Amino acid sequence: MKKFERTIMITGGAGFIGNHVVRLFVRKYPDYHIINVDKLTYAGNLANLRDIENQPNYTFVKADICDYENMSRLLAENNVDGIIHLAAETHVDRSIKDPFVFARTNVMGTLTLLHAAKTYWEPQGWKVEGNPVRFYQISTDEVYGSLSFGDKPFTEKSKYDPHSPYSASKASADHFVRSFHDTFGMPVVLSNCSNNYGPYQFPEKLIPLFINNIRYRKPLPVYGSGENVRDWLYVEDHARAIDLVFHKGETYGTYNIGGFNEWKNIDLIKVLVKVTDKILGRPESADIDLITYVSDRKGHDLRYAIDSSKITKELGWMPSLQFEEGIEKTVRWYLDNQDWLDNVTSGDYQLYYESMYGHR
Ligand code: NAD
Ligand code: DAU
Repeated sequence: MKKFERTIMITGGAGFIGNHVVRLFVRKYPDYHIINVDKLTYAGNLANLRDIENQPNYTFVKADICDYENMSRLLAENNVDGIIHLAAETHVDRSIKDPFVFARTNVMGTLTLLHAAKTYWEPQGWKVEGNPVRFYQISTDEVYGSLSFGDKPFTEKSKYDPHSPYSASKASADHFVRSFHDTFGMPVVLSNCSNNYGPYQFPEKLIPLFINNIRYRKPLPVYGSGENVRDWLYVEDHARAIDLVFHKGETYGTYNIGGFNEWKNIDLIKVLVKVTDKILGRPESADIDLITYVSDRKGHDLRYAIDSSKITKELGWMPSLQFEEGIEKTVRWYLDNQDWLDNVTSGDYQLYYESMYGHR
């Protein structure tokens, strides 16, 4: 095997954001060995990576991050000097229905990985074959809690105040990451990003679910009043930010990443209807009546907004896509990739969906 400059383990690389990060690293850094470690839960899909799966600097390993022996072996056998940790349970509605798997993967899985990395890295003085090591925790703006209208956006100094079982599990994982720096001196870095959108997102999340429902003229279930606000970022812009933070972020630093792009859910949904109908050649907003107000998500956070000025000033990052362009690209991708949607909505997801909603 070719001798690589360094080896990076990316966890959760078969998921939505992970596949974009893996693709970026495999293509941009041919001298890095990229190992994608993914359990392939309902959200992980190797079809997301077909275009790079045969690259000589890419390896896929099906494994559970909660498996300490396996994680230790993988780190040591491959001389891993960097970990970009994305693997997680990520859907808030699922965390309300079954929080235990969120504690297992997001908390215990992160701790398992930290412990395996510490055990391998610490005796070598936090270096592997001369390369300084780094553990990069990919986190979310949801750990900061909820804002009112008119509140200033979250900064890196905002206090953690998670409300959902999902955000509580991510907050707990972040605390463990910082604790490994504070207690053992592990070089860590973290980032907290807002809502991502783009190709390969599992169609339980708002944007892909609604595009598909508009296509088939199914109801669009708007939780509560539809007044909740989220900040949206195109997924490839997040992947670029991850590349910058991994390579240039200061050790123990935290970087907020957002799209400077807040939308009320109901306004975003109207845009989705308009763009999808236009691309399908239907009359303007013909499907607006599909909007159906349903019971609110339990504990639904009102507003997330993120101040990304630190990463902009310190690392020179900015989103590259305007929202209008990103949304049109995204709608076209889902409409053009029905086979991908059919594939991921079979199996486990289908069973879950039936048990949760009583219909497909
Ligand atoms: P996703 O649900 O699409 O993918 C998660 C991936 O993790 C899947 O491939 C799954 O198979 C894998 N996985 C789950 N449990 C595992 C385990 N025990 N061992 C190994 N692999 C496992 O998630 P995503 O939306 O791509 O999010 C990725 C990361 O980014 C998460 O940590 C999430 O908290 C964070 N994040 C997501 C967003 C967003 O808008 N999607 C925003 C900010 C932060
Ligand atoms: O903010 C970052 C987070 O964004 C990530 O950490 C999470 O992993 C990711 O899932 C996402 O969380 P949200 O809960 O914001 O995403 P979701 O797509 O589930 O919902 C977006 C908004 O739309 C939210 O206010 C709930 C609402 N919604 C969602 C669905 C699925 C609806 O009104 N109807 C729906 O059917």
